[in-house]
Amino acid sequence: MIRMQAVDKHFGPLHVLKDINLEVDAGQVVVVLGPSGSGKSTLCRTINRLEPIDNGTIEVDGKILPAEGKALAALRADVGMVFQSFNLFAHKSILDNVTLAPLKVRKVNKAEAQKRGLELLERVGIANQRDKYPAQLSGGQQQRAAIARALAMKPKVMLFDEPTSALDPEMVQEVLDVMTTLAREGMTMLVVTHEMGFARRAANRVIFMDAGEVVEDAAPDQFFTAPRSERAKDFLGKILTH
Ligand SMILES: Nc1ncnc2c1ncn2[C@@H]1O[C@H](COP(=O)(O)OP(=O)(O)OP(=O)(O)O)[C@@H](O)[C@H]1O
Ligand SMILES: [Mg+2]
Repeated sequence: MIRMQAVDKHFGPLHVLKDINLEVDAGQVVVVLGPSGSGKSTLCRTINRLEPIDNGTIEVDGKILPAEGKALAALRADVGMVFQSFNLFAHKSILDNVTLAPLKVRKVNKAEAQKRGLELLERVGIANQRDKYPAQLSGGQQQRAAIARALAMKPKVMLFDEPTSALDPEMVQEVLDVMTTLAREGMTMLVVTHEMGFARRAANRVIFMDAGEVVEDAAPDQFFTAPRSERAKDFLGKILTH
């Protein structure tokens, strides 16, 4: 579903993605771990071309990501993304947030968009919040709305970049539960997160990045119990003991 080949990315003199070769099969859930600044967010952002790459190719469902134009807009719609900050439209209701892109980009008719929007809000457990504005919701509810909004485009892939790290602790689980359900339903997911419980429970693979490289690519059990590299051991030592 996702294939990155020999991908390089610089920010000026900084080499932030170094020869990334990564394949994610349909239905796989891949958790991306690594220290701050290792390139995890940049990796996500290149997959839907929020960031251009310098070298290499990225394919989504067998189609090479074009640099720009209509074809890019269509492919980008196949890749849903959920960020740490919820990025909801402040002046639109929760339901309008979810129906906006299907109406504008997918040209779905209004009745259909609303029906599906409500189903999605139901699925993430906030249908009763549909007429409120984002600021009237808790962080966990806003993040679930952001997930519903991404799902409204019927993406083939969902990217999550630290979706729970801005949440109060008691709201983390409700968002992880929605993500776990999505994973069980067979969504292809790439998830940057420090939630090790989620990684162990829901992921098929863990990718460990350091300094722009994929240093390890392993099953969660193997990664957490017997990481191969010193860098991963060091990282796990820090996060598991703090
Ligand atoms: N727009 C940008 N311009 C210049 N440098 C950038 C830009 N975005 C990221 N970087 C740099 O690229 C490197 C990788 O950043 P990235 O955000 O991908 O790391 P990360 O692994 O997601 O870190 P964190 O865990 O803190 O979110 C960092 O050194 C960062 O400072
Ligand atoms: Mg990041």
